[in-house]
Amino acid sequence: MTAKLIKGGTVVGPTGAVKSDVLIDGETIAAIFAPGKSPHIDDVIDATGKYVIPGAVDAHTHMELPFGGTHASDTFDTGTRAAAIGGTTTIIDFAVQRTGEVVQDGLAAWHGKAEGNCHIDYAFHMILGGVDDESLKAMDQLVASEGISSFKLFMAYPGVFYSDDGQILRAMQKARDNGAMIMMHAENGPAIDVLVKQALERGETDPVHHGLTRPQELEAEATSRAIWLASVAADCPLYIVHLSASKALEQVRNARDLGKNVFAETCPQYLYLTLEDQLGAPGFEGAKWVCSTPLRSKHETHRADLWQGLRTNDLSVVSTDHCPFCFKDQKELGRGDFSRIPNGIGSVEHRMDLLYQGVVDGKLSLSRWVETIATTPARMFGLYPRKGIIAPGSDADIVLYDPAGRTRISVETHHMNMDHSAWEGWEIDGKVDTVLSRGEVIAANGEYTGRAGRGRYLKRGLSDYLI
Ligand code: URP
Ligand code: ZN
Ligand code: ZN
Ligand code: ZN
Repeated sequence: MTAKLIKGGTVVGPTGAVKSDVLIDGETIAAIFAPGKSPHIDDVIDATGKYVIPGAVDAHTHMELPFGGTHASDTFDTGTRAAAIGGTTTIIDFAVQRTGEVVQDGLAAWHGKAEGNCHIDYAFHMILGGVDDESLKAMDQLVASEGISSFKLFMAYPGVFYSDDGQILRAMQKARDNGAMIMMHAENGPAIDVLVKQALERGETDPVHHGLTRPQELEAEATSRAIWLASVAADCPLYIVHLSASKALEQVRNARDLGKNVFAETCPQYLYLTLEDQLGAPGFEGAKWVCSTPLRSKHETHRADLWQGLRTNDLSVVSTDHCPFCFKDQKELGRGDFSRIPNGIGSVEHRMDLLYQGVVDGKLSLSRWVETIATTPARMFGLYPRKGIIAPGSDADIVLYDPAGRTRISVETHHMNMDHSAWEGWEIDGKVDTVLSRGEVIAANGEYTGRAGRGRYLKRGLSDYLI
């Protein structure tokens, strides 16, 4: 047996923090001991003064996504390596069925990009770019045989990924029957397109107009519509992705108060960054922060409301929506026309640190930090208890987090394949110290020792988070 003992740390999980030693046998966790009760093991990792937490699960990434006339700049190799260094040991990426394409062909293409290239374990959701008889049938096959139990639909991006209400209803009915989760990009795309056209006609071309033409009402309206469509589909489970706005959160809260299987995630950018300070940066600089849903105004209550939503579980998950584009040659496609700026921000490396700052600032408890970045995403998407928890039998995906450390984020030091950082110069109280993936130390003391190809595809089950 290749045993390791993580000794002297404080194990943090969704139910609290307890000083314990963690025994690893090969790729899994064998046992948890009270301090002083663990057996003698030669291979000891000293965790004194550290939090010992489950490796984080990022349930929303877009490696190599073809989008906006280009493709996301992180490959599965560069993106999962950066994730690992930041304490994320599982990603769920979005495989894509483009309009007119066979769903299984889109999935095969995604396996082709990921296989042999990932540094950490990975799973897929499926984006349905076209809902018809064929793709509805494919949903059953993906759930039954491919380990894919969640499907993303878009109420935005007409002509690209957009589904109309009838298509959405049909996909929801199918998901209700086969146990899958519908994930929704909830923005009213046709209405946004009108506002975008009018803005461009007025000569409003700077990046800030990306946000101004996507008012929160159009996120709230789409969120509400998705919730009621899910109700009509006999309460199909619904997960709102990248929720950014107070009024949209209100819709989710109302649905949850009615006891519905409606869930939502937010992302670090909506918790910290704003329309004025980042998207509204002078000249074309704001293009770095063009993403959809957009950053919201600092003069409204969005950020405080989102932190509150995380505390009350009206927001259950923090994902990154990692969709990086370089400034040069990619974001610059939209110089002179904000609607052509590729949408997306890259943060896959920084989620654990950015959310830990919320703990330091008194906005989130320690256990809620772990729950929103690891345990709940694993439960929500059928990876639990293999991932997302430190417990006997679970994969030994473990992070030692140093609360006395400090992290400075910069393009000079990050590992994502991006020529800028949305978080340039940010300083965090806390630091990822050691990362284990299935029992193997892949990052320690600032050094990365993992390798491409060691990550495995995870077939997921159904959500165990439903009411
Ligand atoms: O701006 C974003 N969010 N880009 C990625 C695609 C999506 O809608 O999630
Ligand atoms: Zn390319
Ligand atoms: Zn989206
Ligand atoms: Zn996304």
